[in-house]
Amino acid sequence: MELKGKVAIITGGASGIGSATCLKLAGEGVKAIGVVDQTDVVGSVCAETNTQLGGEILIPFRGDVVDSSFREEVFGELESRFGPVTLCVPAAGIIRDRLCVKVHQNNGWTSPSIYSETDFRRVVDVDLIAPIYWAMRTVGSVAVDRVKRGLKEWNPDESVQGAIILIGSISSTGNRGQISYATAKAGLEGAQGTLSKEAIYYGVRCAIIHPGFTDTPMVRALGQRMIQEQVLPNTQLHRLIRPDEIAGAIVFMLKNSAVSGTLWADAGWHPRA
Ligand SMILES: NC(=O)c1ccc[n+]([C@@H]2O[C@H](COP(=O)([O-])OP(=O)(O)OC[C@H]3O[C@@H](n4cnc5c(N)ncnc54)[C@H](O)[C@@H]3O)[C@@H](O)[C@H]2O)c1
Repeated sequence: MELKGKVAIITGGASGIGSATCLKLAGEGVKAIGVVDQTDVVGSVCAETNTQLGGEILIPFRGDVVDSSFREEVFGELESRFGPVTLCVPAAGIIRDRLCVKVHQNNGWTSPSIYSETDFRRVVDVDLIAPIYWAMRTVGSVAVDRVKRGLKEWNPDESVQGAIILIGSISSTGNRGQISYATAKAGLEGAQGTLSKEAIYYGVRCAIIHPGFTDTPMVRALGQRMIQEQVLPNTQLHRLIRPDEIAGAIVFMLKNSAVSGTLWADAGWHPRA
């Protein structure tokens, strides 16, 4: 699929994998990229990149991806200024890591301490439900545009109309200390399978990438010791993946319409059982 001239939304686009994906998409000639992030610096990050690019390609939107009225504002503005949003990479994500069960001993009392339900719900909201809604709204953008143009079911004689890449994780198969994150990322597999079956009615593809440990603020927050001892020895590359390597894979998946399912970009991750 030709990306030139298309309109995209990247959530979590002010940092790490999302930010690297914005740069690569700009390099492909995407007309406008809605960069959605809750960080204060989303505006300055976009301004700096636009200066490098020599044009206003990145359009910042500051807000929480779980907020449905914010989501509607973002789509509304991009659609009215640039036309339908046809590419989406909902990359905003968080971790709230802790072992599932610990045991507390206090004054002769022994009690279980179970992973926080509040944290679990927040991780599921941000990492599972939100990306699915940004993805579905993108399909909606394409669908409405087709109806306006008098088109119904997509047919292969037309070009592919849009593409969505969900961001899973190697943790989707289970990872010690990541009960909420692993559950959310595994859930995206079901969403991808369903969306790819439904959205092709409108000519939109949906696939999922499972990155391994990538050198971003999210992973750096684990601390150097954890990375050296628990991460690098379990990869074949013995290094963190660069964000631009994942972004390159995402852009390949967006462009290559033969890609329909799952890509593991995990640096040969092989943790002990
Ligand atoms: N870094 C890795 O090793 C790795 C591996 C596998 C998957 N991933 C996934 O890749 C995606 C990007 O991660 P990253 O490593 O680049 O992280 P990052 O922390 O560098 O970037 C995440 C961005 O998302 C934004 N964000 C978080 N919650 C938000 C919310 N509620 N609303 C709006 N913005 C929000 C943050 O402000 C941040 O800018 C995430 O979905 C993550 O789970 C990362």
